[in-house]
Order: sequence, then structure tokens, then C-alpha cells
Amino acid sequence: MKTIYLIGFMGSGKSTIGGKLGEVLIENYLDTDREIEKVYKQNIPEIFSEKGEETFRQYETAILKKVNQPIISTGGGIVERKENIHIMKQNGTIIYLATSFKEIFKRLEKDVNRPLWNKDIADRKALYNKRVHLYEKHADEIIVTDGKSPEMIVNEILMRL
Ligand code: S3P
Repeated sequence: MKTIYLIGFMGSGKSTIGGKLGEVLIENYLDTDREIEKVYKQNIPEIFSEKGEETFRQYETAILKKVNQPIISTGGGIVERKENIHIMKQNGTIIYLATSFKEIFKRLEKDVNRPLWNKDIADRKALYNKRVHLYEKHADEIIVTDGKSPEMIVNEILMRL
């Protein structure tokens, strides 16, 4: 089976859907952010504040290169590096969980663990707009998630594989 890579903006449900897909397909599932935290022994906000975004991006690419699991959920910024796109294209299928800014805003209202979300609304929206373009460009499949339960989203993914 080719690897399934879930991409999408912060809060689009990549980890939730990845876990559920793993259960349904009885396959291993891995989240690149959790793997970064495990390997580098630091949580994401600490990596950003102590080492900066560029170091985080290096860690992210190193992990993406190293891991080999059937289902992988990625961080929202995975599309920032061409190298990451290349790795994912080579190894599997890229599925974009497309969630509206309004929905993301609702879900992440009280979130303080995502350094790139801890900004004013104009910066959040600008990042969202820039990223959406990249997700759409590189995805093999686009699944709109607004108004759908995780089960519905998982079923939709299974039908597209
Ligand atoms: C990031 C998204 C986060 C995490 C890091 C950077 C981003 O992952 O990788 O905070 O650049 O959008 P989630 O998409 O799982 O929140």
C-alpha cells in the first residue's frame, strides 16, 4: 500500500482523521509533529521559541524523510518546502483536508499551542490564503471537511483511494 499523507491547515483534522483511518484500515498511523517532539525531545512551541521556525522546518523534513508508515498526518506547514512535496509525491498519495477559515477559526479559538496561529487575525488569514493555494496545487485528492463528521470524511477518503 502506498503511504497516505494528510495535508491541510492547522485545525483541519489531519491527526483525528489519520488516527481513524489507521483504525479502519488496520494500518499504522504516525503524526509528524508528535514524531518531531519524540525524536528531538522538545514540544513544538519550545522548538519555535528556542530554535526558531527554520530549525523546526529542518526537523520536519528530516522526519518526513525518515518515517515510513502507511498513514501519515503532517504539520500545516509541510507544503512550505518543495523537498517535502517531492518526498510525499514519491512515496504516496497526498490528501488535502480542505477546511474553511471560518471553521478553523472556530476550532482554534482558544488554542495556544500553535506558534503560527498565535498572531493577529490579518496574519492568520494571510497564512491561510497562501497555504490553501499550495495545498490545492499539490494534492492528489481534495476532501472538503466543513459540516462533515470524521466518519464521513474517512469514508470519502476510502472511496477515493
Ligand atoms: C504548523 C502547523 C502545526 C505544527 C507547527 C507549524 C504550520 O501543525 O507543525 O506548529 O506551519 O502550519 P498542525 O497543522 O497539526 O497544527
